[in-house]
Amino acid sequence: MNIVFASASGALGGAETSLLAVMKSVRDENPTWKLTLLTGESGSLVSEASRLGIGTVTLQFPQQLGQIGDSSLKGSRKGLGRLRYVGRLVRAGASAIAYSAKLRAALSADPPDLIHANGFKMQLLCAVAKPGSVRLIWHIHDYVTTRPVVRWLLALASFRCDDIIANSDSVASNVRQVVRSGVDVTRVYNAVDCTDLSPAGPAADLDRLAGAPPTAPGVIRVGMVATFATWKGHDVFLRAIALLDSRLPFRAYIIGGPLYQTQGSQHTLEDLQAVRSRLGLEKRVGFTGFLKNRAEAFRSLDVVVHASTEPEPFGMVIIEAMSCGRALVAASGGGASELTVHDVDSLVHRRGDAKDLAVQIERLIRDQELRTRISTQGRAKALSRFSMTGLAGQLRPIYLRTSS
Ligand code: GLC
Repeated sequence: MNIVFASASGALGGAETSLLAVMKSVRDENPTWKLTLLTGESGSLVSEASRLGIGTVTLQFPQQLGQIGDSSLKGSRKGLGRLRYVGRLVRAGASAIAYSAKLRAALSADPPDLIHANGFKMQLLCAVAKPGSVRLIWHIHDYVTTRPVVRWLLALASFRCDDIIANSDSVASNVRQVVRSGVDVTRVYNAVDCTDLSPAGPAADLDRLAGAPPTAPGVIRVGMVATFATWKGHDVFLRAIALLDSRLPFRAYIIGGPLYQTQGSQHTLEDLQAVRSRLGLEKRVGFTGFLKNRAEAFRSLDVVVHASTEPEPFGMVIIEAMSCGRALVAASGGGASELTVHDVDSLVHRRGDAKDLAVQIERLIRDQELRTRISTQGRAKALSRFSMTGLAGQLRPIYLRTSS
């Protein structure tokens, strides 16, 4: 079998980390299959894939196409802003047409049996560009009904799509509301490499990275590991930290940075530093920047906070923190709720509620036994439910069904 994995982004956000796990498990299970990664930009996804021995092709996205997105449109832009957006959309549409001709040429040179496409832009482009004989699978990682432009484009393009994978039941039922009725939507949970993301091993030196003095022994490290997408809840996290008694023995960290090209969807470091100053948290919160080695990043924290303010479609950070045996505080709702059980493998706070988040963080700072219980259960869950073994087995029937 010859498979092209297509991704708009070359950076390693959640959806791309998931794709990397997919490629690795498919390669391990089927060493004779030809696997190629095709991306719209270069980046860590591409270098990690070639490290795995997977062929890579980068077909550079034109800037207008890379930067356009509709996640910041949701009802907020009015009047002139909306007009400008429509102008940018038209220009992005023109560059999409030119790009899809290039994509078609690349796909026709050595037509794969199937394309496994990640990310809305690439999913739409592949639907337009794929040669007739090539089967197309969309791997959908985000809700679609909240996307004013993408939702109707996906509805139309779903007539050229053969099969859909969704990362949670919650996303699967959302996608079904939009796409043509004949297409199968199968839920396949993301997986983590539980050997790499394990509790034992080296940890990052967060204080050095954040330019802060070393913490005293016994100080609990609480942190977020997330891209700077505005809905990841960095502001809620900072407000929760501000609510905690400053005599509690902890220090907080924000690990990550702005990752994607799409305009208007991310905080800048300066935005978040300004929130930190406004809340008077300079001494209590450090920014480390993006850390490439995720296992080391997680292992450096005692408590990992997931604070998304919108329903989280899945939440890679949840299963990564569990796999690394960290005590996790997760936000309620969305696909994330399928992964967590409050007071068993995590503590769950009401999404967007800084006060409740502060309560759950404080419980973990104060109670070492609770931290140990939660993190042990989390690790056990990652091993039994989200390990890489089994991922290729779930994908195989979908690949074979669509290519029959
Ligand atoms: C997207 C989703 C996130 C999920 C990831 C991997 O980034 O927003 O919730 O964890 O894809 O499926």
